[in-house]
Amino acid sequence: MKETIIKTDKLSKSFSVGGRQQHIIKNMDLEIYKGDFTVIMGSSGAGKSTLLYALSGMDKPSLGSIRYSGEEITKMNDDQLAVFRRKHCGFIFQQIHLVDSMSIMDNAISTGMLTGQKQKKLKEKAEKLFERVGISKEMTEKFPSQLSGGEAQRSAMVRAVINDPDVVFADEPTGALNSCGVKAVLDVLTDLNNNGQSVVMVTHDIKSARRANRIIYLQDGGIMGECDLGEYVSGDKVRHEKLRKFLQDMGW
Ligand SMILES: Nc1ncnc2c1ncn2[C@@H]1O[C@H](COP(=O)(O)OP(=O)(O)OP(=O)(O)O)[C@@H](O)[C@H]1O
Ligand SMILES: [Mg+2]
Repeated sequence: MKETIIKTDKLSKSFSVGGRQQHIIKNMDLEIYKGDFTVIMGSSGAGKSTLLYALSGMDKPSLGSIRYSGEEITKMNDDQLAVFRRKHCGFIFQQIHLVDSMSIMDNAISTGMLTGQKQKKLKEKAEKLFERVGISKEMTEKFPSQLSGGEAQRSAMVRAVINDPDVVFADEPTGALNSCGVKAVLDVLTDLNNNGQSVVMVTHDIKSARRANRIIYLQDGGIMGECDLGEYVSGDKVRHEKLRKFLQDMGW
């Protein structure tokens, strides 16, 4: 039996646009399992980012609840939620958010510093992670404005995982990358996952989606279907075919 790490109960998220309510996530009951690499897919505007923001406590749902290992984060105030997120969640955003006035090294270690870890240790850890995603030690002194889109995205990834979060949320983390960069980022996520950390990733890319063991397909604010792919094995044609067929059935 898999252990549930995140559980939503009738989760709903609406936005008010021009005085009208737009219901983006509707009464969603969803469980994310510990140690899973879960991928969320669905057409543009289906609510994937909205769901990720809610699950990670970045944004509050309109209705319903979210529990992390039984603890209801939807009851926390903003300060409690900030502490909770720092401790348990890492987030790689669809839009890259790096602080422009800091080098990418300082960006990377800033969340670790907030949890009271030693700067020297954090820097050593960050250097290793930067190296894994193809960013040299010298380059880590650069500021975000001096980087290419792909370099910025890989730097944001290092910052997101520096605290060894229980759950890494990634919203199209490979959008700005070439195939080499895509592989580097996915390899880091796969490594973390093999280490026992849970990953929840949104992607439009079938090759990236193959890294998951479970695919959830969103439509009209709900779960239209899901697919159990089993453990990731590089180059497994049967898994790939299963995923392709599933997405075809979903009308992707
Ligand atoms: N802050 C907001 N205010 C109003 N509407 C919003 C807001 N954020 C998202 N939406 C709307 O909610 C819907 C879902 O947006 P969301 O960003 O979750 O889509 P998505 O599935 O991530 O799409 P994509 O694949 O293009 O990133 C869209 O119609 C969007 O316009
Ligand atoms: Mg999105």
